Amino acid sequence: MTSVTESNTDIAISRRKLLGTVGAAGATGLALGGTGGALVQSALAEGPPGAAGASSGGTRLSAVGATQVAFHADRQAGITTPLQAKGHVLAFDLAPGAGRKEAAALMRRWSDTARRLMAGETAPTADTGIALDAGPSSLTVTFGFGHSFFERTGLADRRPTALDPLPEFSADRLDPQRSNGDLWVQIGADDGLVAFHALRSLQKDAGEAARVRWQMNGFNRSPGATAAPMTARNLMGQVDGTNNPKPSQPDFDKRIFVPAGGPGPAEHAWMGGGSYAVVRRIRMLLDEWDKRSLAQQEQVIGRTKATGAPLTGGTETSRMELDKLGPDGKPVIPANAHARISAPEQNGGAAMLRRPFSFHDGISADGAPDAGLLFICWQADPLRGFVPVQRKLDRGDALSEFIRHESSGLYAVPPGPRAGEYVGQRLLEG
Ligand code: HEM
Repeated sequence: MTSVTESNTDIAISRRKLLGTVGAAGATGLALGGTGGALVQSALAEGPPGAAGASSGGTRLSAVGATQVAFHADRQAGITTPLQAKGHVLAFDLAPGAGRKEAAALMRRWSDTARRLMAGETAPTADTGIALDAGPSSLTVTFGFGHSFFERTGLADRRPTALDPLPEFSADRLDPQRSNGDLWVQIGADDGLVAFHALRSLQKDAGEAARVRWQMNGFNRSPGATAAPMTARNLMGQVDGTNNPKPSQPDFDKRIFVPAGGPGPAEHAWMGGGSYAVVRRIRMLLDEWDKRSLAQQEQVIGRTKATGAPLTGGTETSRMELDKLGPDGKPVIPANAHARISAPEQNGGAAMLRRPFSFHDGISADGAPDAGLLFICWQADPLRGFVPVQRKLDRGDALSEFIRHESSGLYAVPPGPRAGEYVGQRLLEG
């Protein structure tokens, strides 16, 4: 197995071989239909397709299937990992009567499952067989704790102030049923079955300890769909993610991750190396958007639709010339353009790493698509990331007319677990 380091995340390209031939996998599938779970177990006990040690007659997994993201690392996976094609984002609430002990046992179970599935192995108990034949497919599972988790577990004195509820914004149309939650799980993978398998396994692991509060499903472009890797596009058709902070920038870690052993009360040290995730379901009013001309759409963002280049010229990565005036004496990048208003230089340096999924949950009763952006952004402190930028966008972003924030969550995402550790152990047992 070769390992390459991509930003903070170790991505190992698995050299595992697919067990057996397509015929053998097909036979397993047929047997499953007839005899159910037991045979799944025995088939899996021999080693699942793609498992280490799978021996003869194997065919190689494609790079997409074979790519593996490390579970044990300084940072949790799914933050700086490249965007995956499929995503599930869920919040759980601890069951009535469940407290710190049950939460610790649940995090231990979840971590064990996540570690195994991210390595392309089967779930520790009663694997469903859903991901048979597939490799790890860049699966990542990321866990976070919401504000309410700390009361439920008697740990309120260890809750960082950075987790204080987000302020209300004037344009918010939030559904409390689809907001917040004690625990947050983000699943990403480049294969839909691998992602669903992880979701199903984690839901079963929750058992009596926690119940799903809400679930959202998203997607991004599949690897290999474009001739070369490119910045993603969202459902408005814009190139989205261009001016994200880059791991190669010297202040990247400081902006995105809580410093380990840094300033702050000792009781919050468990978050050292962690990050805060803001999650917003942002509906796009696509019928309204699509009525606008290309030129109007580009004015809303301040960048061209085709290449993502600033309206002041150049290529996608050219600097936005915010002071440049057009022949009419007005700024070329309009005063209310989204990219201008959200830029760090307009917000006292506030910055965040945006790592979203698109969503499409069918057509609403009014005939409009229930579609948009599962906006997920990462920062060391929401008060120096999402909050000031959203305050400003809320007041005067040209994009506001075409979007609606429908749900919201803020989660403390602890650092990656060390070998033998589970996620959140330093909080729950520290
Ligand atoms: C559906 C909602 C949204 C859409 C469609 C959208 C789209 C875009 C696009 C196309 C860009 C320009 C390319 C780029 O640099 O990525 C951009 C930039 C940006 N957006 Fe958004 N955005 C949305 C919501 C938000 C929200 C809620 C925030 C934060 C509160 C935000 C923060 C930013 C930031 C910080 C930039 C980079 C600005 C810069 O440094 O140039 N966006 N967005």
